[in-house]
Amino acid sequence: MKCKDLLSIADLSKADIEEIFHATTELKEWHNKGYDEKCLNGKILGMIFEKSSMRTRVSFEVAMIQMGGHAIYLTQSDINLGKREAVKDGARVLSRYVDGIVIRTFGQETIQELSRYATVPVINALSDYLHPCQALTDMYTIKEKFGTYTQAKIVFIGDGNNVARSLAQICAKLDVHFHIASPKGYELTPDFISRTKQMTDGNEVIHLYQDPKKAAENAQVIYTDTWVSMGQEAEKEVRQQAFAGFQINNDILKLAKDDVKVMHCLPAHRGEEITDEVIDGPHSIVYDQAENRLHVEKALLKLLLRK
Ligand code: CP
Ligand code: NVA
Repeated sequence: MKCKDLLSIADLSKADIEEIFHATTELKEWHNKGYDEKCLNGKILGMIFEKSSMRTRVSFEVAMIQMGGHAIYLTQSDINLGKREAVKDGARVLSRYVDGIVIRTFGQETIQELSRYATVPVINALSDYLHPCQALTDMYTIKEKFGTYTQAKIVFIGDGNNVARSLAQICAKLDVHFHIASPKGYELTPDFISRTKQMTDGNEVIHLYQDPKKAAENAQVIYTDTWVSMGQEAEKEVRQQAFAGFQINNDILKLAKDDVKVMHCLPAHRGEEITDEVIDGPHSIVYDQAENRLHVEKALLKLLLRK
């Protein structure tokens, strides 16, 4: 991997993504045999979380411990980045203590500023705009289930949000078609779509739909996420009305391929974007997907922190 940081899938080349997947497979196989490579012996990861997290926080912390390192969890009430002190001062000082920084925050620009002034690798653990660690894991999981990602019809039904953007970007990087159905006003924007197209050889890989049923036809993967992301709680009622009809339920699954796989980054809001019968049913791969966060992040840490 050539880049110092992982701020966005846009920073990665196809070769970088394949290198991460290769390392993931090796680390996962070793882990399942009961052995974890101690390649981060003595390394320390600073983890800044300004929003809630279960999967991201725990998987990064477990990854560091299993690889011989250590992680320090820093909430907003601990460091109050950008308020108690400037982001650039936080970046410069943390870089003198730790070997890498993971950050979950609101603005993508905060992560970019942190990266500009940090001399150690910075990993985006979710912003309002992007969730690259999730997208890497999602595509790794698709490859694991299908043997390849290129032939799967991937359909996202829901908000054109951080998770959808990063998934669209990784599809573009790998020349995979990405189908997305969103209610009016919640689509991926034309500006985002044209910038994503520039990541391809000029191919249209993003296909927009307003009708989730049309998008779901012959889908091999159906993916959804919450209708109300962290920070949007005040819009909850308006969003729930706008997204009614975009639920992943058995009626939607009937339109897809018989062996369709259902994905969700979690946390799920059962009865809203996904029904109990679907998330608990035979098509759901959401827990394998969640497990893979650990293995993919181990690969990322190995590739970035040992430079
Ligand atoms: N999918 C995901 O990032 O989960 P957390 O918000 O629990 O970290
Ligand atoms: N879109 C969701 C993803 C949570 C992992 C959010 O930002 O809250």
